[in-house]
Amino acid sequence: MPIALLAGHPLLRRHAHGEGQCDLPEQSATQLVAGAIADFEAYFAKLTAERRANPTDDVASTIANAVIDGEPLNDRDMMGYCIILAAAGHDTTSASTAGTMLALAQDPEQWARVKADCSLLGGIVEEAIRCTTPVQHFMRTASEDTEVGGQAIAKGDWLMMNYVAANHDPSVFDDPRKFDAARSPNRHLAFGAGAHQCLGLRLARLEMRILFETLLDRIDSIDLAGEPARSKSTFVGGLKTLPLRFNAA
Ligand code: HEM
Repeated sequence: MPIALLAGHPLLRRHAHGEGQCDLPEQSATQLVAGAIADFEAYFAKLTAERRANPTDDVASTIANAVIDGEPLNDRDMMGYCIILAAAGHDTTSASTAGTMLALAQDPEQWARVKADCSLLGGIVEEAIRCTTPVQHFMRTASEDTEVGGQAIAKGDWLMMNYVAANHDPSVFDDPRKFDAARSPNRHLAFGAGAHQCLGLRLARLEMRILFETLLDRIDSIDLAGEPARSKSTFVGGLKTLPLRFNAA
């Protein structure tokens, strides 16, 4: 598991410096990650045992009782599913939400537009995800010789799919650094593409939509109340610190 996904783990926090950067020798970092995974596994082993004994309608019960080709999931796969869901589902939406709050504090006109026209709610969520692009990249290995954008790719080459660059490509998005709740079209790649496109994209959009919908009538404006700081992760990340003042409607 990448260290970035474990940025909130208490062991890493204890060793964090400044803006959340982890300046550990590689070996210690590996030990910390192994310890964090062991903690995750202990937590989810207990949870899945409980859900096998008493299933509910939650996703942990679905994983705990999953059967593939007549066989229950093995422990390793089950832990993998639990950990990816917990990690992928939490850092991403929180980073997008925080990034949007910052954009709304810096450009109050955007929130005023959405308040005046709630049909822009979906737009604000999409723009939040495009602008923040919390999953910054994923790697792929070419399974055959091919060509991308005139560049020859050999079978076995490693490719970095840089979602941040794609989502700020000026040949696709006008004024790409501007947060625009009414941006249309907004065909960003923040959820990846293809067979492994984000499994939680509908949940992520729904969570964020509910949040902004709930705030619509309650918040008049948002002010910055201190200095924001980014996490120094190069994989999954966003704002680590964002002091805000919400002005009630
Ligand atoms: C704004 C929020 C989110 C963003 C930007 C995001 C982004 C991504 C990206 C870029 C990938 C890799 C896609 C690829 O390899 O082509 C991914 C995979 C995944 N995401 Fe998300 N994600 C978000 C929220 C969530 C949520 C809420 C969940 C679940 C609770 C989730 C679960 C997953 C899982 C399970 C995968 C692996 C899918 C696979 O390998 O087949 N994500 N996500």
